[in-house]
Amino acid sequence: MTRTLETARVVRNQRITPRLWWCEYEAPQIAAHARPGQFAHVLCSEPQQLDPLLRRPLSFSRIDPRRGRVAFLLETVGRGTAWLARQPAGAPIDMLGPLGTSFEFQPGGARALLVGGGIGLAPLLALADLAPARGVDVRLLAGGRTAEHVTPRAWVDARAHYLAATDDGSLGRRGFVTDLAERHFGWSDQIFVCGPTPMMRAMARLSARLASTFGQRPTFTSLEARMGCAMGVCYSCVVKTSRGVERVCLEGPVFEQSALTWEWGHEAPQLDAPAPPPGA
Ligand SMILES: Cc1cc2nc3c(=O)[nH]c(=O)nc-3n(C[C@H](O)[C@H](O)[C@H](O)COP(=O)(O)OP(=O)(O)OC[C@H]3O[C@@H](n4cnc5c(N)ncnc54)[C@H](O)[C@@H]3O)c2cc1C
Ligand code: FES
Repeated sequence: MTRTLETARVVRNQRITPRLWWCEYEAPQIAAHARPGQFAHVLCSEPQQLDPLLRRPLSFSRIDPRRGRVAFLLETVGRGTAWLARQPAGAPIDMLGPLGTSFEFQPGGARALLVGGGIGLAPLLALADLAPARGVDVRLLAGGRTAEHVTPRAWVDARAHYLAATDDGSLGRRGFVTDLAERHFGWSDQIFVCGPTPMMRAMARLSARLASTFGQRPTFTSLEARMGCAMGVCYSCVVKTSRGVERVCLEGPVFEQSALTWEWGHEAPQLDAPAPPPGA
């Protein structure tokens, strides 16, 4: 893997819904090697201040090696992402990447179903961009609580078939993105998923149920985890898979769905556990 620590330059930070931003950077070294599904670990503070100290992981939503640019679809949820969205054109951004495993179209496959929940659409946009050159038809399904959580059509490759579902019906079909996925499962020959954990678990259950009618589909899921180092050292991002404990930042974020156990490596501490006996 060719990973680089690069000083990227902001090209634009454009608000595309009240909640979502399109953040584009000149980062020629990272753009030369990045693949859909991989991410960058981005310092979201002035280098002199280091507050917040920890970098933030962000998936590539567009990769343009010819122009030396990458872009992120960003939801501003806290201090780091808000800082990033505020940066003006030309500002330097400290970026480490590309990191992690990637989404890959399956040899011989021609119909890919891409299922994104909320900001989970981010890595699927870059995968949709790659599809026409690989001879793959894409149906890209986006779910969100409201229209504000769904990426507008203009930011999706024009050749992809794009459908949305929202909880409140403010955009597309009212309901969950998994309802849409159920209608398109039979068409697909491979599936790529990213979103909140409950949605990805629901997709795993749906795949298991529909496999008895349509057959198994190779399915790849990109997991989210809180990250410290993003380089496989600190073990803050571990999950349990059928192969044992693995790191989302190194063995992931993209995993074969069939390998996931949906258990995290760090169980929540039992706050009400009985106190140990004195002297133990
Ligand atoms: C591999 C990977 C790729 C990602 N790609 C994108 C992307 O393309 N676009 C995007 O907007 N976001 C993405 N995220 C999530 C993003 O990293 C977090 O939203 C960000 O780190 C929050 O930083 P903050 O300082 O703004 O918020 P904080 O102040 O750190 O937290 C604000 C809120 O967000 C929650 N949160 C923070 N980090 C995470 C996380 N890693 N997973 C789930 N919840 C979190 C916190 O629990 C808290 O409720 C990705 C995460 C991972 C692991
Ligand atoms: S974030 Fe440190 S090992 Fe994954």
